[in-house]
Amino acid sequence: MSANDTTDHNRRDFLYIATGMAGVVGVAGVAWPFIDQMRPDASTLALATIDVDVSAIEAGMSVTAKWRGKPVFIRNRTEQEVSAAQEVNLSDLKDPLARNENLAADAQATDVDRSAGEGKENWIVMIGSCTHLGCVPLGQSGDFGGWFCPCHGSHYDTAGRIRQGPAPENLHIPTYEFISDTVIRIG
Ligand code: FES
Repeated sequence: MSANDTTDHNRRDFLYIATGMAGVVGVAGVAWPFIDQMRPDASTLALATIDVDVSAIEAGMSVTAKWRGKPVFIRNRTEQEVSAAQEVNLSDLKDPLARNENLAADAQATDVDRSAGEGKENWIVMIGSCTHLGCVPLGQSGDFGGWFCPCHGSHYDTAGRIRQGPAPENLHIPTYEFISDTVIRIG
């Protein structure tokens, strides 16, 4: 074997290995997005639950938190807003169900069962997604003083119950709890 043969041989080997490597990289490049989509990444896991300090939210104010990619409305209702919702006759409701993940599926849409419960009736926590087609309703607006979805005109009352417009259901209430007097854990 001459020195040239050795060089050619090595070059061929090198080219072969390089091609093989490119093939492997190519396959990995295709496979990775599929694998990546199948497992939640660290940021998704980290947001499986969120804690929100509500101590600065005074009566009449609200905040929108972000949880699992969705807006969550947290509102500290005024006494007038609570009593307006309490006075509504349940037979006037388009959707009679509480839609509250913290209660039984057949719980009725009374004001207390839409709120954070007895002693915390002023707090309401809901997914900020219109039950019609998913737009984000505007707070403190609409004909019932609650939320208004401008996309197709759905009006929700101060307990987040659908009262007028095309939305079929009350705004949904996620799993949540007060883990102290001022901190709500969502999820
Ligand atoms: S998405 Fe809200 S009214 Fe249509």
